Amino acid sequence: MSKPICPGWQGARTTALLGCFAFACSSSCTTVAADKAEPGLAVRFTALDSDKATATDLTVLPNVWLYVPAGKPPSPFLSSGKFSAQWAGFLSSELRDNYTFQVELNGDLKLEINDANVLEASAKGTNAGPSKPVRLNKGTNAFKVTFISPAEGDAFIRLSWSSKEFPPEPITLSALTHNVTPECRKASQLRLGREVFIEFRCAKCHAGPAPDTAIPELAMDAPTFEGIGSRRRCDWMARWIADPQALRPTAHMPALLRRPKAKEDAEAIAAFLASLKQGPAPEDAKEPDAGQTESGRKLFETLHCIACHNTPGTTENDPQKVSFNHVREKFAPGRLAAFLQKPDEHYAWIRMPNFKLTADEAAQLAAFLQSGADKPKDDSAPTDRTIERGRKLAQTSGCLNCHSLKLENQFKTKSLADLTPDKWKQGCLAENADGQAKAPQFNFTSSEREALRAFATTDRASLARHVPAEFAERQARSLRCSECHGKFEGFPSFDALGGKLKPEWMKAFIGGELTYKPRPWIEARMPAFAKYAEGLAIGLTAEHGVPPRTPAEPSIDMEAAKIGRKLVSANGGFFCVSCHAVGSMGAMQVFESNGINLAYTGARLQKEHYRRWVRNPLRIDPASKMPVYFDTDGRSPLTDYFNGDAEQQIEAIWQYIRLGDKMPPPETQ
Ligand code: HEC
Ligand code: HEC
Ligand code: HEC
Ligand code: HEC
Ligand code: HEC
Repeated sequence: MSKPICPGWQGARTTALLGCFAFACSSSCTTVAADKAEPGLAVRFTALDSDKATATDLTVLPNVWLYVPAGKPPSPFLSSGKFSAQWAGFLSSELRDNYTFQVELNGDLKLEINDANVLEASAKGTNAGPSKPVRLNKGTNAFKVTFISPAEGDAFIRLSWSSKEFPPEPITLSALTHNVTPECRKASQLRLGREVFIEFRCAKCHAGPAPDTAIPELAMDAPTFEGIGSRRRCDWMARWIADPQALRPTAHMPALLRRPKAKEDAEAIAAFLASLKQGPAPEDAKEPDAGQTESGRKLFETLHCIACHNTPGTTENDPQKVSFNHVREKFAPGRLAAFLQKPDEHYAWIRMPNFKLTADEAAQLAAFLQSGADKPKDDSAPTDRTIERGRKLAQTSGCLNCHSLKLENQFKTKSLADLTPDKWKQGCLAENADGQAKAPQFNFTSSEREALRAFATTDRASLARHVPAEFAERQARSLRCSECHGKFEGFPSFDALGGKLKPEWMKAFIGGELTYKPRPWIEARMPAFAKYAEGLAIGLTAEHGVPPRTPAEPSIDMEAAKIGRKLVSANGGFFCVSCHAVGSMGAMQVFESNGINLAYTGARLQKEHYRRWVRNPLRIDPASKMPVYFDTDGRSPLTDYFNGDAEQQIEAIWQYIRLGDKMPPPETQ
């Protein structure tokens, strides 16, 4: 939705956009001193098969995590093939203390701290280490990891550390930092240029690599014109077409019509679009009912629509958010509620998510949004000649490069290959478009233009290289995930998702395919982003070094599952059911410390996360209300099972939990 401000994994999470990605931001971050340490580690990728001297790329990643499927590139700016990755930055420690490092790895690794060799390993998809204990200085320690991809199979690395106080876990994110260098800024500018090129759909007119071999967003659609006249009002469409960004600063559609006739041409096209009818005749316009408006106001709050929208009926006017003042002018009567129920019905890649509203809820919200909106003027009836002129203009102005309609497209322009770098000061990138030129106008900021120009100088092969973790980073920012996650109490932490949930479950959940709500005690809902779900799920897990498909587990050990059930039970077990429901059996005594139904957990959680969580929830969420059952030496208070060995008990509970909806209910007394 918003124009990309600053690429980088941390962009969505912090507003003071930082690190390697500082370059792109115009205001807040150019003031950041170059030598100031920023979160994450600088990572240099180098193609080892390539004879090109330029086959290197720099970026910032949150941790020493990487997952690159065989035959895929580690970065959009490198070709696939053997590569090295070098993480560099600082590891800070609150105390002077000893730490041990271990790694899950397919490839070769070298870890250096304060210029001393700590761990060297070569592994084929297994664990390596632990290293000898290393003494870290209080404060920062120079930290460097070099990784070489394996000759065969997917390349991956997941580094962890441990100490006397805690068993192996990923290095705390806040302990890793790097310095921002000029080279780093340049690299981030290049990424921003590529992102602007993708987001603003340049390739729809200047055709480049085939969309199906490339990044998913190159296939992004725009609202279909089929039947649009039944859904949108003519007068509003005319104003939008003449200048989309005047109506919505974050619009991705450019202004296409040339002065002096732009307004008149836009009216003709709108008249043509308004003539494209489909479905039932529009309802009569009704004044919103006061009771419904009030219910709608409450729903608007409960569902946190303000994460992405300005509140109707107030003076809030954040240009990064979508406003509602115009909804009565835009939506044909009755069509606003229909839109709210299915925002992606006519525009698959829309950024407005689906809240699975009931018809009543949609009507209430529609009433509330309309109550604060301006009243429309009556649309005047256009003449047949105007409609005909509009049809011709729609065919020749480039509209059909983005919008679908069964009508011949007569617009042509230069292919991407013809846009040599020297041309990127003119046409769509002209600084002072006079409104007469033939090229569309995007209203870019000067840093966006500079970034596009940096991108122009590359071979642009990066448009055919899809790196899932970067897709997820871009889209999480653009879809404003962190405007809910991390902003409201009780919402799951966003940074943890990729190392916690199975990609299969995450895809189904983000896509809105699940019929249950993991946390029924929260009134808010996670809305569905159907078209983005798979890319987000695979990308977020890849960012944590986790594969796109969960490896198969051996069949369930029924003997262990029986012991697991005992351990979860009240009678001589841990009484986990006091807080956790199990299938249809409700939790017994929650007192505001609800746990998620354990019957969902096997399909939801990555096993490693499950294990670490149950071993000590406070290491993952220091504010968790779930008790710690096991001591740091791995001993359990229940010595009747497995001689009190924590890991074996946790494994037995896992076998029980894996039964999912077939879990026999635990004993409750
Ligand atoms: C609606 C179609 C359309 C879209 C979308 C579009 N352009 Fe253009 N572009 C044009 C037209 C038309 C021209 C004028 C050149 C011509 O005569 O074809 C042009 C010209 C240019 C030129 C100058 C070429 C020259 O030889 O003078 C550049 C560079 C350019 N566009 C880059 C971009 C970039 C980057 C984007 C995405 C941000 C983009 N364009 C999106 C239609 C489009
Ligand atoms: C994650 C961000 C996000 C959330 C949360 C969200 N929206 Fe939206 N919404 C959008 C975006 C982006 C658009 C613009 C879509 C487009 O036209 O491309 C939009 C468009 C709309 C529109 C149409 C406006 C127009 O001019 O076309 C309505 C109405 C709307 N949202 C209502 C709601 C309501 C009601 C809620 C809460 C239940 C909500 N939205 C929550 C992102 C969001
Ligand atoms: C580069 C792609 C592109 C081109 C070219 C383009 N549009 Fe759009 N259009 C979009 C996108 C994307 C949206 C959704 C809102 C946004 O993000 O800007 C949109 C929205 C619209 C809407 C509002 C639809 C709704 O229900 O919200 C109308 C009407 C429209 N465009 C008409 C046109 C016309 C007419 C032309 C040609 C003069 C045109 N567009 C050219 C991409 C494009
Ligand atoms: C309007 C607020 C809102 C927005 C925007 C939002 N989420 Fe959520 N999300 C929630 C809520 C509420 C939950 C908890 C739902 C529950 O457990 O019942 C949730 C849960 C999740 C979960 C499951 C986590 C778990 O531990 O169960 C994932 C994954 C997720 N969101 C991903 C995303 C992604 C990716 C985006 C951006 C594309 C996003 N969310 C945007 C409100 C939001
Ligand atoms: C005092 C209440 C309480 C007790 C007792 C409790 N838990 Fe929890 N548990 C929680 C809370 C709170 C969460 C975090 C819920 C969230 O993510 O919103 C949680 C989360 C979990 C999760 C992650 C679930 C998921 O799908 O994300 C697992 C697994 C888990 N608990 C297992 C157990 C086991 C096994 C026991 C018994 C040994 C137990 N819990 C006892 C409160 C409790």
